[in-house]
Amino acid sequence: MPSSLTSQEITNLTAQYTYGTWRFQKGWKPLHVVDAEGCYFVDGSGKRYLDFSSQLMCVNLGHKNPAVIEAIEDQARQLPFIGPGYATDVRAELSRLLLEVLPKGLEKFFFTTSGTEANEAAFKIARMVTGKTKIIARYRSYHGSTMGSIAATGDPRRWAMEPAGKIPGVIFAPEVNCYKCPLNHHYPECGIACVEYIEHMIENESDVAAVLVEPVVGTNGVLVPPKEYFPRLRQICDAHRVLLIADEVMSGWGRTGRWFAMDNWDVTPDILTTAKGITSAYVPLGLCATNKAIASYFDDHYFSHGHTYEAHPITLAPAIATINEMKRLKLVDRAATLGPYLERKLIDLKFHHRSIGEVRGLGLFWAVELVKNQTTKEPFNTYADKVSGAPLLVDKVAAEMMKNGVFLQAWVSHFIIAPPLIITKEEIDAGIQALDAALKIADEAVPQ
Ligand SMILES: Cc1ncc(COP(=O)(O)O)c(C=O)c1O
Repeated sequence: MPSSLTSQEITNLTAQYTYGTWRFQKGWKPLHVVDAEGCYFVDGSGKRYLDFSSQLMCVNLGHKNPAVIEAIEDQARQLPFIGPGYATDVRAELSRLLLEVLPKGLEKFFFTTSGTEANEAAFKIARMVTGKTKIIARYRSYHGSTMGSIAATGDPRRWAMEPAGKIPGVIFAPEVNCYKCPLNHHYPECGIACVEYIEHMIENESDVAAVLVEPVVGTNGVLVPPKEYFPRLRQICDAHRVLLIADEVMSGWGRTGRWFAMDNWDVTPDILTTAKGITSAYVPLGLCATNKAIASYFDDHYFSHGHTYEAHPITLAPAIATINEMKRLKLVDRAATLGPYLERKLIDLKFHHRSIGEVRGLGLFWAVELVKNQTTKEPFNTYADKVSGAPLLVDKVAAEMMKNGVFLQAWVSHFIIAPPLIITKEEIDAGIQALDAALKIADEAVPQ
């Protein structure tokens, strides 16, 4: 419903009365957005922006897909709500479709209304089934904002909750990061020491219930593991009877050129969590999918978990439409095909900019990492800068791009390029051109 207020008034009221997430509140001037369609959104003055990160890496189908909107409308008219204890058409139909697209073997589903809650469900399920407590997560990771999921988050969004934030039972392993290895090793001579170290942790801890990973780390830098990593992690988990939880909240739904990132290595986790792209983010929905062994445990044990909004019909209907639209438009193949095109453009960009340390990714999921020095790989900003409110170079570059009509998500010292999967080559070219121009700011900041 259009407002009678001016854009300035709407921005001011939003900032005065509502919290801006993950930021200092002073100085927050949220852009007033009035419309969005395809790969673009529009502000209150009518200016259009190319959405080069699908907002929070979630609008995979692009904005305002008519089939998804129609599914929401139809469901609202048909059955807007019924409690989670009932069977519904949409719950049955979505389950059938999930069996088709998820890694084989994931056969029982718990629906939530966010990625955070999907991970909370996964932790509780892992602990109930194994009778064990500890979750091994990794430092460069984000798993959600509530007490359990933030405790399992390796990145600085956890720090404000310390010391109580690290609930008993979460321990951190080194991440897989072949550009800046936390163990100071080099692939492939390293023998994937970062995954072997997880086995060392399991052997030297007791009571490990699960290992939790983002198959391709998202916000923390689109870290793609080498091909041996997940087959070996699967072996380690099996050998020690530890569950493998894949957090595909961001990496799922075609983003990497496969339905789910784990498909790139043909490894099936015991539990897969996801959200975001499941409805192209039009409606809040999360999913915790478990294998048959876990499912059958609860045949004779109390499933001690639930929400009022679990399997909410209005959240499930658009997920059905999203999967059908992804199939109709062949978006998974499209991400796989456009990936090498985007990669070539980014490699070319790196060649021309001394502020770029590395470009890396898969499908339509890429990071551009900025450095002060390409040899030492010293970043312009650190996690500590982020939480202390220091000005970040990536924010300056992103602001320049916004001026030029392109939205790009920035985090600490890198950008995340993750456009809607419907993007065209011409639109990719336009986004890259804007980044190319804005990177002048970063190049000038490189010490001589
Ligand atoms: C990998 C990952 N896990 C979990 C979450 C939390 O999801 P939500 O914001 O829907 O609670 C996010 C959000 O960005 C994420 O990227």
